[in-house]
Amino acid sequence: MAAPVDPLKFRHVMGHFPTGVSVITTAFEGERHGMTANSITSVSLEPTMILACLVRGSRTALAVEQAGRFAVNILAEDQEELSRRFARPGEDHFEGLDVQGGPGGIPLIPGCIAYLVCGLHDVVEAGDHDIVLGTVEDADVAQNGASPLVFFQGGYRTLPGMGRLG
Ligand SMILES: Cc1cc2nc3c(=O)[nH]c(=O)nc-3n(C[C@H](O)[C@H](O)[C@H](O)COP(=O)(O)O)c2cc1C
Repeated sequence: MAAPVDPLKFRHVMGHFPTGVSVITTAFEGERHGMTANSITSVSLEPTMILACLVRGSRTALAVEQAGRFAVNILAEDQEELSRRFARPGEDHFEGLDVQGGPGGIPLIPGCIAYLVCGLHDVVEAGDHDIVLGTVEDADVAQNGASPLVFFQGGYRTLPGMGRLG
C-alpha cells in the first residue's frame, strides 16, 4: 500500500476545495450546543438526507448523537464572527445571540442564508470523525438575498461580484 499522505499536507490540499460555512446546532436536556462545520454534503433526495463529518468526542457531536436531532445554519458573508465563535471550544457560544427555537428547542441562528432541521438517521465511524447522517425534516432559505460566507485555503472569503440574488 502506498504511504499515507501527511495529515497537514492533506489539510492543505483539501483547503483548495472551497466550501460554505455552517453552524450545526442542537439542544439536549435543556442545554444548547453548536459548532462551526463545513463538511456538509447533500446525500439523497428520496428521502432527503445530508451528512456532516464531526470530530468524534466533540461536545456537539456527542449532543447531536444524544438529542437525535440537529440543525444546519448556513452562514451569510457578514457572519464570520459567528463562525469564529462557534469554532472556539469551551465557552457559551450563544451568549448575546437572539436565537429562535426550532423543532424540539433546536436553536436556529438569525441572519443565516438558509437552514435545515434534521432527524438523526445514522452515525458511521470514519477515522477520527463520525459521519452524521440526517434526514431533512424542514428546510428553508431566508428571503434576504444575502451572499454566503466562503471558506478557502484556511481563510474566510466572499463571492466576488455576486451581488444580490433575485
Ligand atoms: C470554517 C471551519 C469549519 C469547520 N468544520 C468542521 C467540521 O466540518 N467538522 C468538525 O468536526 N469540526 C469542524 N471545525 C472545527 C470545530 O468548529 C471546532 O473544533 C469546535 O471547537 C468544536 O466545538 P465543540 O467541541 O464545542 O463541539 C471547523 C472549524 C472552522 C473554523
